[in-house]
Amino acid sequence: MTDGKSGEPGLLHGADYNYEQWLDFPEVLDQDLEYMREAGINAVSIGIFSWAMLESDEGVYHFDWLDECFERLHKNGQKVILATPSGAKPAWLSEQYPEVCQMTADGRRQPHGGRHNHCRTSKKYREACVRINTRLAERYGSHPALLLWHVSNEYNGVPCYCPHCIAAFHEWLKKRYGSLEALNAAWYTSFWSHCFTAWEQIFPNDASIHGMILDWQRFTSGQTIDFFLEETAPLRRVTPDIPITTNFQRPDVGLDYHEFARQVDIVSWDNYPRWHREASDVDEALQAAFFHDLHRSYKGKPFLMIESSPGATNWQENSKAKKSGMHILSSLQAIAHGSNSVQYFQWRQSRGGIEKFHGAVISHLGTADTGIFREVAALGSILQKLNGVVAAPVDAKAAVIYDFQSGWALDNAQLPGNVEKNYQKECMAHYGAFWRAGIPCDVIGSLDAAFEKYALIVLPMLYMLREETAARLRRYIDTGGVVAATYLTGIVNGNDLCYLGGTPGNLTDVFGLAVESTDVIAAYEKRHIVMDGKTFQALAYADALRLSGASVLAEFTESLTGFENTPANSPAITAHQYGAGTAYYLAARTGPDLLDAFYGGVCGKHGVKPCVPWEIPPGVSVQDRGGTLFVLNFTEYPVEIACKGLKYRDILNDAIICDRIMLLSLGVIIIRRYN
Ligand code: GLA
Ligand code: ZN
Repeated sequence: MTDGKSGEPGLLHGADYNYEQWLDFPEVLDQDLEYMREAGINAVSIGIFSWAMLESDEGVYHFDWLDECFERLHKNGQKVILATPSGAKPAWLSEQYPEVCQMTADGRRQPHGGRHNHCRTSKKYREACVRINTRLAERYGSHPALLLWHVSNEYNGVPCYCPHCIAAFHEWLKKRYGSLEALNAAWYTSFWSHCFTAWEQIFPNDASIHGMILDWQRFTSGQTIDFFLEETAPLRRVTPDIPITTNFQRPDVGLDYHEFARQVDIVSWDNYPRWHREASDVDEALQAAFFHDLHRSYKGKPFLMIESSPGATNWQENSKAKKSGMHILSSLQAIAHGSNSVQYFQWRQSRGGIEKFHGAVISHLGTADTGIFREVAALGSILQKLNGVVAAPVDAKAAVIYDFQSGWALDNAQLPGNVEKNYQKECMAHYGAFWRAGIPCDVIGSLDAAFEKYALIVLPMLYMLREETAARLRRYIDTGGVVAATYLTGIVNGNDLCYLGGTPGNLTDVFGLAVESTDVIAAYEKRHIVMDGKTFQALAYADALRLSGASVLAEFTESLTGFENTPANSPAITAHQYGAGTAYYLAARTGPDLLDAFYGGVCGKHGVKPCVPWEIPPGVSVQDRGGTLFVLNFTEYPVEIACKGLKYRDILNDAIICDRIMLLSLGVIIIRRYN
């Protein structure tokens, strides 16, 4: 925790604790407390799915069990992360007010059940949430164990098409566009006779009107945030000193988390890598690193990993048990990237329901004498030695832009090449060059991130480039910033309308080039790029460029199909000086070898440094959190790193190491420079 309230634990170690599932088993509840102490658990999330237990009928409350839970945890030394229960609604609520259930586009009201599926606009649902949240805040707001609000659970952007949502969408559009003329122009409704002459005609299920679909996605994301604001209003009023979080997920649930993050005090997220899905875990580790850095970058502050599985999950195609060492390694990876917690789903495996086989700290076996418990407990002791990093920042000079709305627009687009768009994967691929090199890297939005604090900003496939962002990038480069953009950048503006007169839109003079056309590289074709005498593969997309000042850093070796005028030796990577800065352009997708070589050169040239002076072996990641270095080995073999002449203090083992660092397979070393 970072907001400095007195009596707070340092790094949090805990879990979702479903106390209400075990009320008939007092011996289990007693055992939980003992085991929590043993595992070094200092904070647990409670009440996440407890609405039916807390309010059995409208206005009929039962807080006794929660009172008891609070008291017992408090006496046992655990802080409480108290959830509001809106993630799953009680049956009486759906029965009494059917409008709380979502409606599909074809007008079917969804039956009660499941979770995370309420209508965000329903007044009745909002009122019911405000009522129960007010009760919770009044009852527990001043309890000394209360640490943090865990609002709802995993909000998502699955749309609801009920009349309330559609009416709210119309109001949202009126505010955004002012008039139907403006809306028709923005949505380009001269296409296919799509012109609207009354707001009521607008129903957002026509995938051929890109402006409308994108606005519907924006509205749905915004309406979720609006719902969150309404349900948190009583918490802000009654408990102004208790910080608020809500657990985010991997960034592909239809929410613009850059926008959402502005409304929470602390960002938190649920991290479920698929360890051991492949023979090597390195790609999975890179992906987890990207997601952690994204969550840190939402607010530029430490975040909480508020869920992770201590063992196997049960909802992936195949969830393998974690190999020995992986639990500690992946948990410390989160801390390395800026998490101030390792929290689990879940403390104790539930006995029934769809998640009864999901991993937990305590399994159905019911004992602490298990491999999982031992690793959890070992991690508990490790975390206590790392409390010093709680306020430590990660200082990144490089950033990759990951823009949700641009990703949605790109997904909606029908391009000559549709099968390999993979926006998120491509952002991760560029980020990977920094991760492998040990260069701290943020993952930022395009709209209001402070570009000036970075020496280098990467724009992989920033398909939708809002005019404001283009203007800010121009200023940034003009005043000394360095940007690297790729094919499929700056294709449409903020209304999803194509830029005219050349792409990257509004920035062709800054890049010193314009894209003439983009070709698809078919799987059977071989296309190559030569850079500094080395040959690399070009994949998926390749641009034919018209240069107007940019210099060529790399060339395609073959001519691009479809463009008789594009001979071999056409430019594949370019650089252009604009004002005091430089704009690089990569005209094709490539593999990690080229990205490593390219960014290695760019970072060297522009003073973006790795966090350590030694060479990092493949599969090892080094992260710097305020001078504390986490050296994480994601490979299956031990690794020795040469760091001649350097001395470090090994924090976990309280030892001095010099000249070389030894890592076990799936091992971690945490060190600080020692002079
Ligand atoms: C999500 C949810 C939890 C649980 C886990 C299972 O993260 O928030 O309630 O369902 O998944 O992995
Ligand atoms: Zn609705």
